[in-house]
Amino acid sequence: MAEPKENLQMEKIVSLCKRRGFIFQSSEIYGGINGFWDYGPLGAELKRNVKELWWHTMTRQRDDVAGLEATIIMSPEIWKASGHVDTFADLMRECPLTKKRVRADQVEPQSGTVIRYAGIFDCKGEESLIVNLVKEFAPAINTPQSLEDLFRKHITDADVKEMNPELFEQAKDNPGKLNALKRDIAPNYYAQSGQFKSFAVMLQAGKPVESARKLAEQYYSQKTDSFILLGESVEKIEDSINFHPESGVELTEARPFNLMFKTYVGPVESEDNVAYLRPETAQAIFAQFKNVLETSRQKVPFGIGQIGKAFRNEVTPRNYTFRSREFEQMELEFFIKPDEVIEAIHGSVATVPETGHPGEPQPNWGWQVWHQYWVEERVRFYESIGLSRETLGFHRQTSEELAHYARACVDILFKFPFSKKDADGNIAGDELEGIAARSDFDLSQHQRFSGKPMGVFDEELRAAWAKLPKEKQDDLWRRYYENRKKYLTKMARTDETPEQIQKQATDDANGLARGQYIPHVIEPSAGVDRLILALIANAYSETTKTDDKGKSETIYTMKFHPRVAPIKVGVLPLLKNKPDLVKKALEIRDLLRPWMNVYYDDGGSIGKRYARQDEAGTPFCVTIDFDTLGEKPELLDTVTIRYRDDGRQDRLKISEVRDFLLSKIR
Ligand code: GAP
Repeated sequence: MAEPKENLQMEKIVSLCKRRGFIFQSSEIYGGINGFWDYGPLGAELKRNVKELWWHTMTRQRDDVAGLEATIIMSPEIWKASGHVDTFADLMRECPLTKKRVRADQVEPQSGTVIRYAGIFDCKGEESLIVNLVKEFAPAINTPQSLEDLFRKHITDADVKEMNPELFEQAKDNPGKLNALKRDIAPNYYAQSGQFKSFAVMLQAGKPVESARKLAEQYYSQKTDSFILLGESVEKIEDSINFHPESGVELTEARPFNLMFKTYVGPVESEDNVAYLRPETAQAIFAQFKNVLETSRQKVPFGIGQIGKAFRNEVTPRNYTFRSREFEQMELEFFIKPDEVIEAIHGSVATVPETGHPGEPQPNWGWQVWHQYWVEERVRFYESIGLSRETLGFHRQTSEELAHYARACVDILFKFPFSKKDADGNIAGDELEGIAARSDFDLSQHQRFSGKPMGVFDEELRAAWAKLPKEKQDDLWRRYYENRKKYLTKMARTDETPEQIQKQATDDANGLARGQYIPHVIEPSAGVDRLILALIANAYSETTKTDDKGKSETIYTMKFHPRVAPIKVGVLPLLKNKPDLVKKALEIRDLLRPWMNVYYDDGGSIGKRYARQDEAGTPFCVTIDFDTLGEKPELLDTVTIRYRDDGRQDRLKISEVRDFLLSKIR
């Protein structure tokens, strides 16, 4: 689908990204490949900073999260267990002529004149009376019955003789047979050349009916060489989502299309060797849950974080990098105790604050408080890298939108330049990250499919359970049992009986008394590339300057937060032909280099160099001038620090520069 060129702001951003080396089209010299993007020198630094910050915030700065780096290709069983093989699909519709597909939920309504053909009559390369007859009445023939009726009405003895001498020879001496031949057999026989698969096209404005006819001929010529178009009709249609936005041809019915990229492991391309490029990083975390638990000495509640590539054969990659086919995710699976376990140990589950951050994690938090905690933590993260709350939006998924196993999901949105306005003119935004409460679905699925236990043992639960009054035990047992039964019933294999399910749910609930349960999960799942795009869109700023002669110039500044900015500091000697200035500047570059990304630039006027750094989003420039060398003795060994966003300048001792910059970029 051609992207509408309606969004000027996006066009400018895309252009700056290419011009300054943030983002390039993948394989550009070969015409590009849809849905794949490369990050240039500035983009690569930006991306690295974002991932580093996520990793730092989510794992290193916490005691309760461990990291993982798993492979992209894993056992295909993982994707069967997770449901991706069966259900990770988009509903697609196809243009039967061009074979181009569109997502069923993304076809914009169109109105116009629709020309429809009921089908064709296959002439089989012959010129016969029958063919002439069909040609004469073609527009009125719109069903198999009407074709048969036509023959029944018009076929004469002479026609039959001319059209099929053999049939005629067999029947000519028998009036009854000849009659039947004329009335039933011949019509039936010839009518078999009718193929009633309709084809319709919405005429583009100003185009004649002839253009629709040509498309219909192209379509039917895929089936046979010589044919007559049958049953042409014209109708006006309003707001229909049944026509391809480019070709105007009526779309096929929606069919599911799995989004996983398939490949083969080893030299033999057989079904036994099929593998998939992971469509999310999360499943590796579930599959390695036990190994991490055992080696990291963590105890529930704790999380496992991972950053890595994910691949989805998106039907319509769009909005620049927003929906790509290869992208990166930053995912945390945070494992928590089920509410029944919290209640058994602590007597009750903490209540959820109406809004805001619930504070430091507490042992009596149930899934709802944990969920709110992670939503707020993630918003704080975005704020810490320059996305203010005003630029974000929130969407709490409705029960219809939620996956069947999920208890809640809050999407954190960013107001991108392409985000749509609602009826009141408000922009909700598009998804940056989803924070889902996924129950114990994932670990339960891997337990069932792998046959390996995914539950944990909790001594605190075992001890607390033994002290609970029988009534309380029964109540908690029943609630846990019901949840397990619901899950097991929903995911039952066809060969599993209700009795087996009940037995399994009973065993699971009995586990509580032994201190055993399957952890639940809260999953904050963010896309690196979407975040990069959000940061770029958020940073983009342009102003127009007009000089004394009335000549205007557009000045571009990328106002990245210093923590994510690709280059932290530009080091600029005032003049490049003064060896002492250059020597000092190189010393300062080398002083800062081990600590941050420095860009040394001595080319062009100082104003031009500042402008270049502004466009790259460099928050600070350090200028080495004659005062640095002691022209004014009191300024010896000082430099100018220039601030990107307001052009302000301060004087700082060289010995203070590093710590000053570190305090701003960390
Ligand atoms: N494990 C859960 C999961 O993968 P998701 O909502 O499908 O959930 C999580 O993906 C995040 O990954 C999204 O919020 C988005 O930021 C990013 N993402 C998903 N599909 C993407 C695509 N085609 N291109 C770029 N980012 C994508």
